[in-house]
Formats: sequence, C-alpha cells, structure tokens
Amino acid sequence: MRKHQTNFPDWSALIPVLPAGGPRRDALQGELRRLIETRVLLPGQKLPPSRELAQRLKLARGAVVAAYEQLAADGFVEARLGAGTFVAALVPEHAALKTAPQAPARTGPTPPMPGKLGSGTVDDKTLRDLRGLFRETLMRPPPGFLHYGDPFGDLPLRREIVDYLRATRGIRADAGQVMITSGTQSALSLIGRALLQPKSRIWVEDPCYPQALNLFRSLGLTIIPVPVDRDGLDPAAGVAAAPEAEAVYLTPSHQYPLGTTLSMPRRLALLDWAQGCGAWIIEDDYDSEFRFTGPPLAALHGIDRVGRVIYLGTFSKALAPGLRLGYAVLPTELVETVHKLRDITDRYPNPLIETVLARFMAERHYAAHLRRARKRCRMARDALVEGLSEAQLDVTIPDQGLHLIANARNCESDAELQRLAQAGGLASRRLSELFIKAPTQQGLVIGYSCFEADEIRAAASGAARAIALGRNR
Ligand SMILES: Cc1ncc(COP(=O)(O)O)c(C=O)c1O
Repeated sequence: MRKHQTNFPDWSALIPVLPAGGPRRDALQGELRRLIETRVLLPGQKLPPSRELAQRLKLARGAVVAAYEQLAADGFVEARLGAGTFVAALVPEHAALKTAPQAPARTGPTPPMPGKLGSGTVDDKTLRDLRGLFRETLMRPPPGFLHYGDPFGDLPLRREIVDYLRATRGIRADAGQVMITSGTQSALSLIGRALLQPKSRIWVEDPCYPQALNLFRSLGLTIIPVPVDRDGLDPAAGVAAAPEAEAVYLTPSHQYPLGTTLSMPRRLALLDWAQGCGAWIIEDDYDSEFRFTGPPLAALHGIDRVGRVIYLGTFSKALAPGLRLGYAVLPTELVETVHKLRDITDRYPNPLIETVLARFMAERHYAAHLRRARKRCRMARDALVEGLSEAQLDVTIPDQGLHLIANARNCESDAELQRLAQAGGLASRRLSELFIKAPTQQGLVIGYSCFEADEIRAAASGAARAIALGRNR
C-alpha cells in the first residue's frame, strides 16, 4: 500500500503561531488554511494524524480534530475514511491564488462595479456557512433527496419561511400556501399564467420594476400604468383608468424604484377595491429585510382579511440573486391551480438549495447574516450619500432597501449624468428608463448593497467630480 508523506516534516514550526492561551484551535485552523492558500501544502498532500500533530504542538487532540473539521467544512481539506486527512484537490476559489499570505482572506465572489444594482449581500462568513452546509448536505443527503419532490418545494424550508414571515412581516400563513420558486421572476410568471388571460388588465406602478413589466407584456396582458407619488401607488388613479382590472402588481413596502411606502389609507382603499371587483393584488416585497430605521412595516398581506393578496418574497437581495430562490404565499383558493401548473412547468424546486437554506435559517445563520448585512449596507448607504454630496444632485436617503435615487436638477438628462458617473467609477441605472409613460423625473438609481463603505464613497466622489467637470465644460 502506498504510504502518504507530507512535505512539511517540521510541524513544530507551527508552535510559534499558536497563542499560549485562548482559541488555539482557531489559530491552528487559520495557519493550516494559510499554508494551503499559499501552496506550502499542496492539493492531495496528507496532513499528519490528529493525535500526532496534537502531541507535537502540545495541544489537546480535540483542538486539532476541530480545526480539521472546520477546514473540511470550508472545503480546504478532505477526510478519507481509513486513510487520513488530505489537502483538497480543489481548494475554494481565489484562495489558492493568493500571493500575499498576510492579506485577510477574501473568499467571496469578485465584486461588481460600485453602484451596480442587484449585487446581493453575501459576505465571507455567510459564504463559509453556506459552503459548509452544501458539503454536509451532499455528504449526508436527507431521505428522498434525489427523487421527484413536491411542486411547491420541501416542507422544512416552507415552514422556516412561514415562521420568518410571521415574526418579521406580520403574515399568517400555512406552509401549504407557500410555494418555493426560483426567485420573484418565476413566481410572477407562474401566477400570471395561472390567474390571468391574454388581455387581462393589470395595474402596474409607473415608474416600475422593468422585469415584471416585461413579463406581463410577454403574457399579453394589458398594462394599466398607475402613477406613484410620495404615498405610493394611487388607487384612485387606477380606478379612473381601469376600474374592473383583474390584478395589480406593486411594491408597497418600498416602491421600486422611487422608494416610497404605500400609505395606510391607500392600502385599505386597494384592499376594498380588490374585494369589490375580485381583483388579485400581487405584493412584491423584495427588500424588506433591509429596514434601517423605525419599526418594521407590516406587509400588505398582513392586513388582508379577504384573501386577495399574493405575497412574493425573494432571497435575491437578502442573500444573492445567484441562488435563484424566492417564494410566494398564495390565498388558499389558488393553491390547487398553481400547484398543478408548477408541476407541468418545471416540476419542483431544486432540493439541494432548499435543504441548505432550510438549515441556514433553522440554525440561525440567516438571522445573523441579516444583522451583519443590514449594518454593512447602512454604512455603504451613508458612504454613498457622503461621496455624492459634491455632485449637486437631490439625493433621497432611503430608510429601507439597497438602492437610492439621486435626482437631476435643472432638467438635466439622466443619460448624460449616467455617462459622467460611470466615467468617475460609479455604476447606475437611468430613472427615466423605468417610466411606462413619459418620464416625469430624471435621475440615477444607484445600488449600495455589497460594497465596502470606503470603496463606494471613493466611487461616488469620483462620479461627483466627473459630473462637476462635465457640467463646467
Ligand atoms: C422590485 C424587485 N422585485 C424583485 C426582485 C428580485 O427578483 P428575483 O427574485 O427574480 O431575482 C428585484 C431585484 O432587483 C426587484 O428590484
């Protein structure tokens, strides 16, 4: 039998990096990880047996075992039954390429240009937690894991979502009403097809979320643009334009893109109207996890006593769009129809990601992630506002969400503003493009979700300088 050798015979060289007291397990794990990242320990190489290393380093064996286990959960080593622990063939992305071992390890995805919308909020800690859960799920798959599942998704995740929505959004629902989807987009598509016919009229906020608008257009629906003011969508204007519409799609907690909140009188008016004519209210609650000041707002669904609201949530903002995970809470009378349609459309959601997310929520990683992400996003928001302060734009500081609006002054075109901001290093979207009818505002929609405060402040200052220069030319 081939005997595995390490090329690191002098393991006692690790002794100086381990603190005399305190968390020696963490120090050992960090040092081994660094040796792997800097390719001192190479893929496939064997680590010493835990007992042997513990003796050499004068550590409790449990500390070495725990360090190995954490390295395995993070994907740096693999335990092979009866053979020992080996450096993983493929260590996590970026880590092996590091040339500066002292630099703090960044294992997250390559960051997009500051200001870019829709960038998610996963940090290194969350990525590590998710990676560990993915590995464990694949190593110990739950029963039925690789078989056909329920069209609405796995029950453990649906139950976690029910608990989460009850605690944070004032929504009371049964897990049977919750459908896991691959994001809001797939929920809108299924619901649109299940409940509406080509030519059905749907009220849509103006300005609006273009992905939803384009989907409704692709289904052949008749779009009824309804203006938005500081109280959100105006139901009176909707009634004036199409009193018998079959549905309304809106973002009541944080209007996309303007950032207003639907006032209580308008919420009640909307529910009354929907009850009166039997319309469906599609509530897109895409970023409520990120409320920075004041008490959390209850969802519109939470005050619906007549079962007209279809509530949509997503993990695209709360975690990352690349997970493709969202959910719909359906009125009981719609469950059967949508269930059947899901079955013949894409059968059922991906059980791997569902299992991981259910554990991520149940083991409180999600709550901890949101606390960290909220803090980071708030700091990024403040840094963005600070950086933009020289730009002579009217910036609305949002108390929720992951984007802000910087309105142009003096009838400036937002196309030119966008070009200048981009040249200064800040990505954005043009506000005027998001109107269905003729735009009544010009400005930039700027995202701040996953950016470090210094990074986005510098980009915003660069944009402010470029805008000032551009104006003076
Ligand atoms: C208004 C709105 N709803 C929903 C989403 C999320 O969509 P999905 O869950 O399909 O990624 C976004 C993302 O930008 C959004 O802006």
